[in-house]
Amino acid sequence: MENKKAVQLSSFTINNEKTAPLTTNQGLKVSEDEFSLKAGLRGPTLMEDFHFREKMTHFDHERIPERVVHARGVGAHGIFQLYDSLVEYTKADFLTDTSKTTPVFVRFSTVQGSRGSSDTVRDVRGFATKFYTDEGNFDLVGNNMPVFFIQDAIKFPDFVHALKPEPHTDIPQGASAHDTFWDFIGQNHESAHMVMWAMSDRAIPRSLRMMEGFGVHTFRLINADGEAHFVKFHWKPLLGVHSLVWDEAQRIAGKNPDFHRQDLYEAIEKGDFPEWQLGLQIIPEKDEFNFDFDILDPTKIWPEEEVPVKIVGKMTLNRNVNNFFAETEQVAFHPGHVSARD
Ligand code: HEM
Repeated sequence: MENKKAVQLSSFTINNEKTAPLTTNQGLKVSEDEFSLKAGLRGPTLMEDFHFREKMTHFDHERIPERVVHARGVGAHGIFQLYDSLVEYTKADFLTDTSKTTPVFVRFSTVQGSRGSSDTVRDVRGFATKFYTDEGNFDLVGNNMPVFFIQDAIKFPDFVHALKPEPHTDIPQGASAHDTFWDFIGQNHESAHMVMWAMSDRAIPRSLRMMEGFGVHTFRLINADGEAHFVKFHWKPLLGVHSLVWDEAQRIAGKNPDFHRQDLYEAIEKGDFPEWQLGLQIIPEKDEFNFDFDILDPTKIWPEEEVPVKIVGKMTLNRNVNNFFAETEQVAFHPGHVSARD
């Protein structure tokens, strides 16, 4: 199946290997790029060598600011295929037209660690999906745990400051269980549910291909008649959910800090494409207050025996990136990006 996003991107890609001359970034032909202009044989290098300065400036800027959370990530391209139309619930065409195959990009991440931290630390995993729909991008940002640490977003900076390395030692890297973290948890009892998940044997995935994804927040779908339903999004891995135990995770972190990203890359290179089914829990708007918990509270799950997960489609990750910086590092997700069509 031809990936429409790849076709679109290919119009900006030129394969000029062997044919094009070496040029500056502005297209001016140069015979070589290994010797700077000098005053005399041994220097000093001249400021008038604009090509030298261009090459250095370009190199010095080959970074974007590290994400404040979810800095350590890995991504892949793929497709989403809908099984049955959700026209009863939404007018979004990628969720109603089963003939469409929607290109996607997924970025998995840890939360606490910096870009160079280890993959198998005790932490939450991000699971962010960008659907390149015909009506615009739809970003579904999620985690591998179905609840969150806080109820009110204004506490997020306090929570992340507590989670990050401690101010006097800059320790620990990548891991969540330490004094300032426990100080926060001890004073914010709404975090108890999430902590049970984070400290459980289910927390550290065996492979990114074997973990669930959850939108966590309650979203609202609106159909063509203007009727609304509350929904929660779930990704269910077809390989099942498998985890590392603490001792394994710590050993692997030492022996191969890139364990998860390597596993994902190699599986996709081998054609062993990871797959997830998309599931929705759905509550009609009129039933909003028929539960003994607030359905908008991100520290609570919707019990699946009360609100079953309806499986609606499948995502397959089938292509690795060619350029980690351009595709994975610079991808940006924004759950506020939804298409508006009347
Ligand atoms: C008030 C609450 C929150 C705040 C202020 C917040 C803030 C942030 C920030 C600043 C980033 C980095 C963005 C970037 O630099 O590109 C981020 C990334 C992310 N957040 Fe949150 N976040 C919040 C809650 C959540 C929740 C509840 C989830 C799970 C549903 C979540 C999942 C993610 C994921 C998966 C990423 C990584 C996206 C990527 O791969 O680029 N966040 N968040």
